[in-house]
Amino acid sequence: MIKYINSEKGACESVTMELYGSSRVLENGELAIGECAVTRLAQEFGTPLYVYDEVLIRSLMKTYRQPFEERGVRYRIAYACKAFCTVGMCQIVNEEGLWLDVVSAGELHTALTSGFDPKRILLHGNNKTEEELQSAIAADIGTIVIDNFHEIELLHDLLQRAGKVMDVMLRVAPGVDAHTHEFISTGQQDSKFGFDLHSGQVEQAAALVREYRTMRFVGLHSHIGSQIFDVEGFRLAAERLAQLCAVLHTKYGMPIDVLNLGGGLGIRYTAEDTPTPIAALVRDMIEVTETAFAAHNMALPLLMLEPGRSIVAQAGTTLYRVGSRKEIPGVRTYVAVDGGMTDNPRLALYGAKYEAAVANRMRAPANDLVSIAGKCCESGDMLVWNAMLPHANPGDILAVSCTGAYNYSMASNYNRIPRPAAVLVAHGRARLLVRREEVTDLIRLDVPLADVGAEPGANGGIL
Ligand code: LLP
Repeated sequence: MIKYINSEKGACESVTMELYGSSRVLENGELAIGECAVTRLAQEFGTPLYVYDEVLIRSLMKTYRQPFEERGVRYRIAYACKAFCTVGMCQIVNEEGLWLDVVSAGELHTALTSGFDPKRILLHGNNKTEEELQSAIAADIGTIVIDNFHEIELLHDLLQRAGKVMDVMLRVAPGVDAHTHEFISTGQQDSKFGFDLHSGQVEQAAALVREYRTMRFVGLHSHIGSQIFDVEGFRLAAERLAQLCAVLHTKYGMPIDVLNLGGGLGIRYTAEDTPTPIAALVRDMIEVTETAFAAHNMALPLLMLEPGRSIVAQAGTTLYRVGSRKEIPGVRTYVAVDGGMTDNPRLALYGAKYEAAVANRMRAPANDLVSIAGKCCESGDMLVWNAMLPHANPGDILAVSCTGAYNYSMASNYNRIPRPAAVLVAHGRARLLVRREEVTDLIRLDVPLADVGAEPGANGGIL
C-alpha cells in the first residue's frame, strides 16, 4: 500500500486519500488507477464512474487462499457477490477458481450467464422463493444453505418433484454479537437469519434433514456480521459451532464435512478503521477453529469463508465531476458532485466515512475544508463530511476511494438519476463492466396508460 502525503509548498500536511493496489500519482499530479489516468477515464466513460482495479481484486483473492495453503488446511473461498455482482466480475471469480455465494435469482442468473461453474455456487437467503429454489435446482448448483423450517419442507418438495438430491448446509444463528453497525450484524440471537442455536432449533432442523433422502447434509454455516476487525467474534462462533458439530455427530450420527464461517472481514475506509490485515485475520480464524475442534477431539472439517467487501471495496474508486459550491459564512462549505446517494447510499444508510481527493491535482495543497454533497433532493445526500482538500473547482475530478463494495450493488435511480458505468482497469487498459444507464433505460419498464381518463372498472371499481 502506498501512502500519499500531500505536503507540497508548505501546505498543511494531510493525507487526503490513501492509495490502494495499483493506484498512484502520475508526474503531472494526476491520479492513475491500473495505469489509467483518471482524466482519460472520465473523458472516455463519463462521470460518475466506478473504477475497479483488476490486479488488486485478483491479488486479494490470492491473499485469502495463502494462509490455508501454507498450513495445509482444506478450504473453500466463496466470493459473496452481493458486494459487487456483474457478469464480468463473476468471470473473474470463476477464473480464480473461487466459489460464488448468491442470494437471489438475479445474482444466480448473472453468474450462470457469465459461464460460472454451477457446482461452485452456493445459494443463501432467509426467504428463498419457490422460483429461486427451482432455478438453483435446475442449474444443479453446488450447495443450498437452508435458513429456516419452511425452506426445509419447500426444498424437499421441489427436489422430490425434480427427482434430484442436493447438498445442503444449515445456517446457524450462533448468538454472537459482532460489534459492528446493528444493520449489518447478523449472528446475534435476535436475527432474521438462520436457525437459533440456543433453543435447539439447529438440532431439530438437522434431524429433519436427515430424514429426507432428497438432501445430502454437508455442514453448517454462520455469518456473524460485516466490517469485523478481529477474530474474537469468529472465535466465539467457532467454539459454539464445534460444540454443535460434536452433538450432531454423537447424537444424530451426522458428521460435518464443511464448516462455513461466512464473510465479514473488515477493511480500512479511513484512518479511523484499524482492521487486522486479511492474511493475519484468516490465519487467526483457522487457528481458533482448529483449537475449537481439537477441544472436542474432532478433526477440522473443510473450512469455508465467503468474503465480499474485503475482496472488492478497496479495489473500487468512484470518480465524480465537481459542480456547484455553496459557502455558508461561518458554517460550512458544500462542494457538490454529479453523483451521490444514488451511487453510494452508505453514508445515508450507515453513516459510513470515506476519504476523497481532487484526482486531477493530487499534489495541490490541501487547505480547503469542505463537505462533499450529492445532487439528490435530500439533505442526507452526502458523500463525505469535513474533508480537507485542495480547492475544488467546477470541472475538477473528485475521487472517493473504497467504493467497490455495496455501492453499485445498492445504487438506485432515485430522482430518476441513471446509474453510473463501471470499468475494470489494469496495465493501462480499461474495459467496461457495466455500461452507463441512459435516461431511456429509466423508462424502459414504464407502461403509459393507453386509456387516460377511463371510467372505473365494474363492481364499483374493485378488481
Ligand atoms: N455471507 C453472508 C451470508 C452475508 O450475509 C454476507 C453479507 C457476506 C457473506 C459477505 O459479507 P462481507 O464480507 O461483505 O462483509 N450493505 C452493507 C453490508 C451488508 C452485508 C450483508 N451480508 C454495507 O454496505 O456495509
